[in-house]
Amino acid sequence: MSSVSHLFSPLELRAVTLPNRIGVSPMCMYSAGPDGVATDFHLVHLGSRAAGGAGLVFTEAVSVTSEGRITDGDLGLWNAAQQDALARIARQVRAAGAVPGIQLGHAGRKGGRTVPWSGYEPIPADEWGRLLAPSPLPFRDGWSAPTEMSAADLDDVVEAHARSARRAVDAGFDVIELHFAHGYLVHQFLSPLANHRSDAYGRDLEGRSRLAVRIAAAVRAEIGEDVALCARLSVVDWAAGGVSLDESVQVSRWLADAGVDLIDCSSGAVVAGEQVPTAPLYQVDFADRIRREAGIRTGAVGLITTASDADAVIREERADLVLIGRAMLRDPYWARLAAVELGADAAPPLPIPYRRAVQRMAARTQW
Ligand SMILES: Cc1cc2nc3c(=O)[nH]c(=O)nc-3n(C[C@H](O)[C@H](O)[C@H](O)COP(=O)(O)O)c2cc1C
Repeated sequence: MSSVSHLFSPLELRAVTLPNRIGVSPMCMYSAGPDGVATDFHLVHLGSRAAGGAGLVFTEAVSVTSEGRITDGDLGLWNAAQQDALARIARQVRAAGAVPGIQLGHAGRKGGRTVPWSGYEPIPADEWGRLLAPSPLPFRDGWSAPTEMSAADLDDVVEAHARSARRAVDAGFDVIELHFAHGYLVHQFLSPLANHRSDAYGRDLEGRSRLAVRIAAAVRAEIGEDVALCARLSVVDWAAGGVSLDESVQVSRWLADAGVDLIDCSSGAVVAGEQVPTAPLYQVDFADRIRREAGIRTGAVGLITTASDADAVIREERADLVLIGRAMLRDPYWARLAAVELGADAAPPLPIPYRRAVQRMAARTQW
């Protein structure tokens, strides 16, 4: 008899029910058409991972402004053409039985590069626009210094997030994740390693968190009470003088008060040359601590590759959701195979046109 697997139990976030606890982690594909519009590649890529049984399928980081893209191959969501292309993807993900999610972000000083396979080269400012940041500090030696944001720039970025969130809801996304991690704009504000401001957006933890909290509150006000809102944090910076876990617990509490429902716990990438002790499940402790101490739901991510490890994270209540990145690139059917391996009752239903594949076969292979 098959056992009930916690990995395959539903998760309710406001009016949204994820059919299981497996999310496709946001991953840049650097394959957008001109002007940040999603292509057929994104439709097939995200649609097949939804058919593969994940409960939640996140898009890659989608920029709220043109100059907020990491590269010229990134998706954007600041105009109607981008919204229409993303709406088609949201429809396909939902039709395959998964909940469509979108990650919104702004690259700040890490923006304006060519795609990795074109060398990740800087694109000249007169073509790209300004690189915005809390302080005029380049990400690494040899990179250009960004522009220190003015009060008007800060207001614009908050409004840009709210406008893109509105477009995301109108495009059919039920879950929005704010990308406050990996050294991009909001993480640059959160980290004392990138934020040297002496005004209300710097100085202490409250000041460094002000932009994050303002964006979360503005997005929540725009999307209403039913849509689920997540925030991805780099919970620690892995560098001396950087963000600490204790600080991230406090930031998570403030974000919860601003309307965030789940903290997706990642780490690092605000400075070059950090020492990251990567190993299987190496970020799960962060999700566990934030869940217990900030009293908010969490997502665990990072080198979670096996069904049994993913199931244990949920069963042991160390996180509420697991996000799978590279393993999903290797195998879009990762979730379906995990259900078989765990003998889960609630295996995601196979798309109807595929069902001839399992008729009259042994129960063990019924995925
Ligand atoms: C190709 C690629 C692109 C990524 N792009 C993003 C992104 O857009 N947003 C984000 O928050 N994380 C991004 N990440 C990080 C993943 O979401 C994930 O946190 C990381 O790969 C660790 O999980 P894993 O060990 O399961 O791959 C990316 C990772 C990869 C491999």
